[in-house]
Amino acid sequence: MIETERLILRPWTHDDADRLFDMMSRIEVARWSGNGVPMASIDEAHTRIDRMPTRAGDHPAAGLCAAEIKATGVVAGMAVLVPIPASQGIDRDDMEIGWHLHPDSWHQGYATEAASALVTHGFAAGLPALYAVTFPDNEPSQAVCLRLGMTDLGLSTDWYDRELRAFRLAPPAKPVG
Ligand SMILES: CC(C)(COP(=O)(O)OP(=O)(O)OC[C@H]1O[C@@H](n2cnc3c(N)ncnc32)[C@H](O)[C@@H]1OP(=O)(O)O)[C@@H](O)C(=O)NCCC(=O)NCCS
Repeated sequence: MIETERLILRPWTHDDADRLFDMMSRIEVARWSGNGVPMASIDEAHTRIDRMPTRAGDHPAAGLCAAEIKATGVVAGMAVLVPIPASQGIDRDDMEIGWHLHPDSWHQGYATEAASALVTHGFAAGLPALYAVTFPDNEPSQAVCLRLGMTDLGLSTDWYDRELRAFRLAPPAKPVG
């Protein structure tokens, strides 16, 4: 569990399935990742929750977190730090950060706040870099990347076998001496 000023980042449980479904069944959320198809049933939310540990893999910093608003207990959305699949024929072993918020939690800084905590967590665990990949026209997500201080790598086909706009963040420089 990770605590920020306004959020608790914690694992998803099946008690969150209704909220996950309410978020991922909306085209305005689902269109920006994977195959872009919204969830069609609550069963898909339960299946997604079951698969989260496998998606996270075995890196100690990895996880798919529910970002719960401390003041209300409402889950604003999801923040992830997970291995990023390299495109076929490319030898890479990278970790990505990502975010999805329920539309009722947009424009309040929650994605940046959650992702910033995962960045700190990832670099504390020794990750050499973090990446984010966005659909080329996903300006709100690219704005999160820039707020986090990520470097815009432009369009890349290195990950997910498709052209995505990629961002990279290096760990903070260690103080000298
Ligand atoms: C991408 C996504 C998470 C971005 O959400 P967002 O709300 O724009 O981003 P943040 O949570 O960082 O909030 C930043 C906004 O909150 C505002 N804000 C308000 N209060 C704030 C506070 N206390 N602290 C920081 N920002 C605050 C900022 O000014 C900024 O405003 P703007 O959106 O008008 O520019 C959201 O659009 C989304 O879920 N989209 C669908 C899924 C998606 O695209 N996922 C990414 C796939 S790569």
